[in-house]
Amino acid sequence: MAKIRKAVFPVAGLGTRFLPATKASPKEMLPVVDKPLIQYAADEAEEAGVDQLIFITGRSKRSIEDHFDKAYELEMELQQAGKTALLKIVRSVLPATASCIYVRQAEALGLGHAVLCARPVVGDEPFVVLLADDLIRTSGKGVVEQMADIHARHGCSVLSVQEVPREETHKYGIVEVETGSDGVMRVVSIVEKPAPADAPSNLAVVGRYLLTPRIFDKLENIREGAGGEIQLTDGISDLLRDEHVIAHPFEGKRYDCGSKLGYLEATVEFGLAHPELGERFSAYLRAFTQH
Ligand code: G1P
Repeated sequence: MAKIRKAVFPVAGLGTRFLPATKASPKEMLPVVDKPLIQYAADEAEEAGVDQLIFITGRSKRSIEDHFDKAYELEMELQQAGKTALLKIVRSVLPATASCIYVRQAEALGLGHAVLCARPVVGDEPFVVLLADDLIRTSGKGVVEQMADIHARHGCSVLSVQEVPREETHKYGIVEVETGSDGVMRVVSIVEKPAPADAPSNLAVVGRYLLTPRIFDKLENIREGAGGEIQLTDGISDLLRDEHVIAHPFEGKRYDCGSKLGYLEATVEFGLAHPELGERFSAYLRAFTQH
């Protein structure tokens, strides 16, 4: 089965929920402790063996390109000041084995449209899509690697899913599934942001997709869906007519960093797990909550 070599990062969204922080800089550059969200996602893809990082960018996204580029002046200054530890950190941001490719999405027409913009670069092979504002912490393999393992066994598209409270179905793509005798969950239907009463289940798609290239034909032919946007969910719904799609209840904890509360939760938990800060931060939180 084809190895997953390409990862697509749609980063052209406006990030209105975090204004004014996202007025001039993209939401994917918001840091959780000391790393921007996009870096966590890029690392997850690279750890799974991906060697092409394809960013679908829009206006005000230059800082993402700069982040993954060499920073000559900064490196020189750190070198001259003998700050070798910091120099190492700055250099480690550059993907060691992967190359970065930027595709400009002129109009923000929706997630499905953003993914379609990657077609000329992805070509005719399976690929993954990562939404950086879904930050996922795992104890073992990252979610992209988990999905790649499933793809290697079954050869089809894989969606990572998690149960959400019924009243939140309107925030997600929701799948209806059928569990086979092999224990594998196959997607029967998928719908974008249904009201709780119309939702086929409470199983939500989170921001990790492994897709076969046939999705591009589907995305080319769909019309505007929920919210007047070209929805990836609608493309996947059409894909179901031709191919199996597996739903993967991933191992790991997801933080919805597209919401302020989820972002704060991630900051606290990544802070507590941080090798340098964890102990002191934990002591601080204990003292703080006792007041
Ligand atoms: C997008 C997708 C949705 C998915 C969600 C996961 O929605 O359209 O199907 O469940 O990401 O985070 P958005 O959060 O961009 O509104």
